[in-house]
Amino acid sequence: MKLLDIYARLKKDMAYIEKELEKSVDSEHAMLRETSAHLLKAGGKRIRPVFVLLAGEFGAYDLERLKHIAVSLELIHMASLVHDDVIDDADTRRGQLTVRSKWDNRIAMYTGDYIFAKALMVATELAEPIIHQVLSRAIVQMSIGEMEQIRYFYQPDQSVRNYLLRIRRKTALLIAISCQLGALAAGASEKVCSRLYSFGYNVGMAFQLRDDVLDLTGTEKELGKPPGSDIRQGNVTLPVLYALQEPERRAELLTELKAIERADGQADVSRCLQLIRSSHGVNRATELASRYIDKAIGALSGLENIRAKDDLIRVAYFIGNRSY
Ligand code: IPE
Ligand code: IPE
Ligand code: MG
Ligand code: MG
Repeated sequence: MKLLDIYARLKKDMAYIEKELEKSVDSEHAMLRETSAHLLKAGGKRIRPVFVLLAGEFGAYDLERLKHIAVSLELIHMASLVHDDVIDDADTRRGQLTVRSKWDNRIAMYTGDYIFAKALMVATELAEPIIHQVLSRAIVQMSIGEMEQIRYFYQPDQSVRNYLLRIRRKTALLIAISCQLGALAAGASEKVCSRLYSFGYNVGMAFQLRDDVLDLTGTEKELGKPPGSDIRQGNVTLPVLYALQEPERRAELLTELKAIERADGQADVSRCLQLIRSSHGVNRATELASRYIDKAIGALSGLENIRAKDDLIRVAYFIGNRSY
């Protein structure tokens, strides 16, 4: 099932969010207008705005308020991607050239900064300080997560716990607060907000786990970028850590990873991919993602049975099985 089918019901409101997103990055500066619109126009799943709107249905749904949260979160996400592609030396994203490859790294740094600033401008349309605190804390955590990722590049002997902490920071927290702030902006109770936060956190963990699995198993067409990008960039993900635990693969895998590190991102990763794909790593990481999805759905159990709850469950299952 396509994600679009799942939230067909939100189509009208999402189209409105899309227009607001376009407006939000508009600039009198021609270059910034072009670079920031580039990633926006390339598409993307808009999963964070979807979570904001669905969570908003647990309170007094008001699109005029929710749009500020939805747009702000998608912009924070986009800004982090523009920067992430610099760190990862990535050439393509969402099937298009990255900002850093179409222009250059310097342009990408300021494009990211610009999008971050726009995210804050949009958020300040809502007066509540708590919203700004939650957003800025999430950006801080995301920065720590990305820094930790750099620190652990090409390190095969890191712990699973370390990996999980990193993906919590770089991905799960932003999805958690998408759900939390959607409900908060709609005036839902603290209990509802915290259940939705927990839902989003667990979905977010599954989301990055799936993303890391897909990077190893997907095709270039599905991913919008070549498979094996993480390995090439030195990002040691959970399936790799699990594969390294298998004595019959460990030595060869370590040799391959070393060779890739020495080639500084230009290496042929096909043998490495083969080794990982033939290990239990992919299945074990996928199973862990499913466990997070179950936990996410469990977090919804105390909430009233409204349509949005079914939709959240369906989006969660989509994420648990997603192939793009
Ligand atoms: C990509 O996020 C980066 C991760 C946190 C895994 P998405 O998969 O949500 O990217 P888009 O927005 O759909 O391109
Ligand atoms: C997600 O990390 C990026 C951020 C959360 C900032 P990845 O590096 O795994 O995402 P992709 O694979 O480039 O989309
Ligand atoms: Mg990346
Ligand atoms: Mg990255």
